[in-house]
Amino acid sequence: MKKLSTAVSALLVATSTLAADAVPDTRSRALEVFKPLPSTTPAVAHNPITPDKIALGKALFFDPRVSASGVFSCNSCHNLATGGDDNLETSIGHGWQKGPRNAPTALNAVFNIAQFWDGRAEDLKAQAKGPVQAGVEMANTPENVVATLKSMPAYVDWFKASFPDEADPVTFDNFAKAIEAFEATLITPAPFDAWLNGDDEALTAEQKQGLALFMDKGCSSCHTGINVGGQGYFPFGVVEKPGADVLPQNDKGRFAVTNTADDSYVFRAAPLRNVALTAPYFHSGKVWELKQAVAIMGTAQLGQELNDGEVTLIVAFLNSLTGRMPEVTVPVLPPETDATPRPNG
Ligand code: HEM
Ligand code: HEM
Repeated sequence: MKKLSTAVSALLVATSTLAADAVPDTRSRALEVFKPLPSTTPAVAHNPITPDKIALGKALFFDPRVSASGVFSCNSCHNLATGGDDNLETSIGHGWQKGPRNAPTALNAVFNIAQFWDGRAEDLKAQAKGPVQAGVEMANTPENVVATLKSMPAYVDWFKASFPDEADPVTFDNFAKAIEAFEATLITPAPFDAWLNGDDEALTAEQKQGLALFMDKGCSSCHTGINVGGQGYFPFGVVEKPGADVLPQNDKGRFAVTNTADDSYVFRAAPLRNVALTAPYFHSGKVWELKQAVAIMGTAQLGQELNDGEVTLIVAFLNSLTGRMPEVTVPVLPPETDATPRPNG
């Protein structure tokens, strides 16, 4: 009996050693494809980030007066209180128009290879000029944005402090750069980062199994890098095209950017940080349940029917990507003056 229990405990020790070994093994595999968030604000190209610029960018992000109607701010559709998006199928903008695509989160967007579902803006400063001018979003013009900002003395001072070497700092380019600087601070460290950084307890057993499945099944061949996605372009429906209810035929994705037939229905692999907060899913916003979105990815991208247990484990892993939200104090905006252009439309 003693011998048997010694044998059993030897076996247990051996198994637990194996389990302990297995932890760094999963981690080193994970570190080959993913990266933890940096602990500080990342640098961005051609736009040195300073505290003044971040504060100005925050004011602009929350200011509805940069839209023609005076109704929509960036935060209307990228609500920092609800995961950095609007939780609508597709966004509602100027004149109550419904836009063509679901709003992705602005959180951690600085780590995407390029911006938008089709990657048509190379970085956040290029991106920020888009919504202001989009007819279905803010429907404004660069000239009117600059006139609006110049009409408020506090904004002029803030632009001077943010771009001290420039004679005429209130420009549309600098508007976009300040917003980029603020967005670079919107990063959300998650349990997954703690685990990648060596904290074994940061993920539950279920989440670790889900992560292993995510890698074994091949999800991580497209959803890679810091944002667990946002790094490359792939056809939506590599193996099997989802129905037009999920993949509407009129949105051909990157085809509109490159005009290359091969890019029909090609989209950026969605960044998956905070995905549990950003329903509904896909560029069409047609899928409300994360489990269903994962199952669709299984059939469309991998040609595999994932069973309910597998989907549940993968979703458990995806939940570990929900991070600590940045603490953002709502800014007090400068009051408009007699010179401020009136809302229009
Ligand atoms: C995309 C920021 C205003 C709706 C994006 C992205 C960013 C962003 C960073 C790309 C995220 C990614 O690719 O993962 C901003 C800023 C705004 C602003 C800084 C203010 C200047 C708005 C407004 C709306 C809106 C007012 C809604 C009316 C959308 C939609 C997309 C998007 C639908 C996806 C469009 C596509 O992929 O074609 N925004 N946004 N945004 N935003 Fe905004
Ligand atoms: C979108 C998860 C495999 C490419 C998504 C979304 C989720 C997801 C949850 C929606 C995110 C959102 O709307 O915010 C998964 C899982 C996978 C997997 C769990 C493995 C079972 C793949 C593979 C590829 C891929 C292998 C590339 C071949 C894409 C693309 C999108 C996307 C292009 C954007 C689709 C769109 O235009 O709406 N993925 N994915 N995924 N994924 Fe995957």
